[in-house]
Amino acid sequence: MRCTLPAYLLGCVSLLHRNPQTYASVAVGQQSVFALNLCRKSTSHSRSMDLSDMRKKYKGDEDCFEESHLASMDPIKQFGNWFDEATKCPDIGEPNAMCIATATTDGRPSARMVLLKGYSNEGFRFFTNYESRKGSELESNPYASLLFYWDPLNRQIRIEGTVERISRQSSCEYFHSRPRSSQIGAVVSRQSTPVPNRDYLRQKYEELEEKYKDTEVPMPDYWGGYIIKPCLIEFWQGQTNRLHDRIVFTKPKDGESELGKFQHAAEGGWVYQRLAP
Ligand SMILES: Cc1cc2nc3c(=O)[nH]c(=O)nc-3n(C[C@H](O)[C@H](O)[C@H](O)COP(=O)(O)O)c2cc1C
Repeated sequence: MRCTLPAYLLGCVSLLHRNPQTYASVAVGQQSVFALNLCRKSTSHSRSMDLSDMRKKYKGDEDCFEESHLASMDPIKQFGNWFDEATKCPDIGEPNAMCIATATTDGRPSARMVLLKGYSNEGFRFFTNYESRKGSELESNPYASLLFYWDPLNRQIRIEGTVERISRQSSCEYFHSRPRSSQIGAVVSRQSTPVPNRDYLRQKYEELEEKYKDTEVPMPDYWGGYIIKPCLIEFWQGQTNRLHDRIVFTKPKDGESELGKFQHAAEGGWVYQRLAP
């Protein structure tokens, strides 16, 4: 993949920042062109990169996340509180981008990013191709783990739960609310299957654009939404001294009524406790 020059320069600056030895070589090398070449060499020719010095400062103890700072004892509302803060943070490009991990029935995990398209007391919704890799894993093993990481806020949220398809009607409503180009794109792409080349997709896209130029694009059967119904939601906030805050809400199984060690009752049938970082 080609790197744009500003991104490449930024990469070099950060490499120099992290690697004083490289910096010394650059200082004697004098010319900035040399610095660029050096960066390229260090990144692509070395067999193993030592990243042990790569770490950034998180929050200080005065900004820690105490139980008393929870906006709500309902973890969905607490999610909403952190999510709203993330949407207001100008440095976060896509606050609703999340990693979703699925697994095969024999326990082999796979993970990828998707976009959260809604949440409520019911759960967390996203849309995809039901025949994709994630789709087939979810059909045979309907459990998933979601992960949000909002770097500028030093916050991570983990969500685990069972997964169900949402109704076809709700999927259809969302499908047709998307830009037309995305609708056609969803029809074109038999997601996760091999294709001969990009032109193949381009040509299919043009054919469908022509085919549906005067009509609504029909939502394919293989496309729609899933909802993750959470049984665990963990709020993590990073601390520079690594005494990170972790407050985890879980839903006790039916019939489980006794609180565990250090567990506290929350709202909506949830309990919470603090975990060691
Ligand atoms: C920021 C971001 C958002 C994405 N959103 C979605 C999405 O909402 N739905 C989707 O199917 N794929 C989305 N993708 C693409 C997936 O990461 C992935 O490539 C695709 O779903 C195929 O995954 P699979 O083969 O594991 O099923 C997104 C990728 C990125 C980087």
